[in-house]
Amino acid sequence: MAAVETRELRKVYYSNKKEPGALGALKMLVKPDKVATEAVKGVDLSIEQGEFVGFLGPNGAGKTTTLKMLSGILYPSGGEATVLGFTPWQRKPEMLRQISLVMGNKMQLWWDLPAWDGFLVLKELYEVSDSTFKKRVDHLVDALQLSDKMHVQVRKLSLGERMKCELVAALLYTPRVVFLDEPTLGLDVVSQKRIRDFLRELNREDECTMILTSHYMQDVQELCQRVVVIDHGQIVFRGTLDQLSSRFSDIRRVRLTLAQPVAETDLMRYGRVIGDVGEVAVIEVPRSETAQATAAMLQAFPVSDVAIEEVEMEEIMRDLFTRAPGSE
Ligand SMILES: Nc1ncnc2c1ncn2[C@@H]1O[C@H](COP(=O)(O)OP(=O)(O)OP(=O)(O)O)[C@@H](O)[C@H]1O
Ligand SMILES: [Mg+2]
Repeated sequence: MAAVETRELRKVYYSNKKEPGALGALKMLVKPDKVATEAVKGVDLSIEQGEFVGFLGPNGAGKTTTLKMLSGILYPSGGEATVLGFTPWQRKPEMLRQISLVMGNKMQLWWDLPAWDGFLVLKELYEVSDSTFKKRVDHLVDALQLSDKMHVQVRKLSLGERMKCELVAALLYTPRVVFLDEPTLGLDVVSQKRIRDFLRELNREDECTMILTSHYMQDVQELCQRVVVIDHGQIVFRGTLDQLSSRFSDIRRVRLTLAQPVAETDLMRYGRVIGDVGEVAVIEVPRSETAQATAAMLQAFPVSDVAIEEVEMEEIMRDLFTRAPGSE
């Protein structure tokens, strides 16, 4: 059985549209104009137990909405979903005990309590045994280097420290499925890395199923075996990151280290020259012509080293989402 499965999952939000001015406000009271936003338009997902899947897409694509439906905090407008065999929005306690949602921009810990006290409350809420709690929290606090922050009010912690405490809170009861909605949002590079290492370990050791959204491609590159890309509420791609880059990027970059200076105009005959030409020159060539163009440049120029690079994932994502709607 798949850990997470959805079929034709849909969500339409209705909100009141306010026309400008006082008259608009009045009209909104008397006869509100409803506007519908189709946030998720028929999403089919199938994620196996133990998979680490990246759920990617531009702002407003429907990622958070989907994760909220899967974790049972939002009712769908249509379609079906099962998480560990349960229908998430029925919110059965057996299911809630086995899943967790981490949101980078929303806290579940109590602002005025020290994190430690918050953990104790969650322990009771989720009926975690003393021994499991101790083992789990000790490990988490140690891995995320939080031991000296445990008794400080959450409101006084830095953003990164708070986020790490949130992760501990979300994981102290050994969930089997974790939804991670931008868990590294706003964190410094060191904290991002710690959290990544930690999530990777959890996925490997506990075989915990992870679904991650992140705008940091490094998170996705390092963690996710597979990605699903959503745009305007619809899935536009499923596969590995390599497949994503070869499907959406038809260019490659040839990086030449030059033993002697070469004029940019000479290089331009082989492709688009990226950046300044110095000891190193980078030329973009069509994927299908990479071998020929590289061979020709090796012949033509005093090259001491050559490397062929894929275009960075970030650029592919940017290209992918700045295409005109509807164009493939
Ligand atoms: N409560 C709401 N009421 C009305 N519209 C909403 C509501 N929540 C989200 N939306 C709209 O639904 C669409 C999907 O939003 P969602 O938050 O799922 O996107 P996202 O993929 O998580 O984006 P981001 O990368 O910015 O977090 C957007 O157009 C958003 O404006
Ligand atoms: Mg979101």
